[in-house]
Amino acid sequence: MTENAGVNYGIIFKSLEGVERLRILSGMRPTGKLHIGNLLGALDSWVKLQDEGNEDFFFVADWHMLTTGYEDISNLSNDTKILVREFLATGVDPMKSVIFVQSHIKEHAELYLLLSMLVSLGRLERVPTYKEQLRELKERNISTLGFLGYPALQAADILVYNAEGVPVGEDQAFHLELTREIARKFNILYKRTFKEPKTLLSKVPKLLGTDGRKMSKSYGNTISIDTSEKELKKMVMPMMTDPARKRRTDSGTPEKCNVWTYHLAFETGKENLKEIHEGCMKASIGCVDCKKILLESMKKRLEPVWERIEYIDKHPEIVNDVIRDGDKRAESVACETMEKVRDAMNLLH
Ligand code: TRP
Ligand code: SF4
Repeated sequence: MTENAGVNYGIIFKSLEGVERLRILSGMRPTGKLHIGNLLGALDSWVKLQDEGNEDFFFVADWHMLTTGYEDISNLSNDTKILVREFLATGVDPMKSVIFVQSHIKEHAELYLLLSMLVSLGRLERVPTYKEQLRELKERNISTLGFLGYPALQAADILVYNAEGVPVGEDQAFHLELTREIARKFNILYKRTFKEPKTLLSKVPKLLGTDGRKMSKSYGNTISIDTSEKELKKMVMPMMTDPARKRRTDSGTPEKCNVWTYHLAFETGKENLKEIHEGCMKASIGCVDCKKILLESMKKRLEPVWERIEYIDKHPEIVNDVIRDGDKRAESVACETMEKVRDAMNLLH
């Protein structure tokens, strides 16, 4: 896909093998550096969808960032660039996927405004993430129209490209449900314009932080994808293990150990896995050795990422070029949708 994204608009077209190609879209807020949880939970599935030959749109949701972060905007533009750098580093390929910045495509805002007519306040207030975040981010003043409208903006992001599949984490399922409701309502009220996008949940088990708590930057228990080999070692070696293995001679249960989950997530080879599992149960392998094997698996997975980062940082202008090109391609599709939308709502040409 590229120039003809607009022409193919709204059509599920078939690839050569007869496999359905879907229009895929997903976004991420620019919250700073990506960590390995983002890599395995989200980006890996984006890259997989891309490499299966779907038509993909991936963007930086900088307006969404403002809904909770409007008081401190000091890092916003820089974090937006950082996130595009990390998309590229993890293997999102600008030749195959459209990579763009939400705030550059004004059609998202226009559609958001128009869809807002169809979304009841009660429905927005009942979105679980809304109440939860109001509670969690008490210190920020987010009793705002903008934050209440978060899911409606997300619906606009998705519908303005008529996306068919949206790869997201489980926490986004309600937003997708609302998106389908809005699409349905619009289609019934005016004219069939939107597809109802499917939620593509990623199957990767949730990785905990290196200390065994929820992975969160604020706990300092995350490993960023551009970590150095030295840093990686510093994070992995002190990782919590099965508490039953206090001494080297105590046997353990891999299933109770965070290191084991990491082995599975980073695809330590079958042979090694078997050895570790047995060795842990029989106390014939020590946790230090087990972690050394994990380090190797992680290095293997992260090395291509590191290589791309090195290349991008040597040619930093790539990031701007990718955004400029992606914006153009995204805009052409979004503009086409908006013509249909304005038409369906009987706005004067
Ligand atoms: N709300 C999403 C998140 O926090 C980000 C997002 C914004 C998004 N717009 C989207 C995801 C559209 C998928 C589709 O992760
Ligand atoms: Fe965990 Fe490995 Fe130690 Fe077993 S041997 S407790 S799996 S670190």
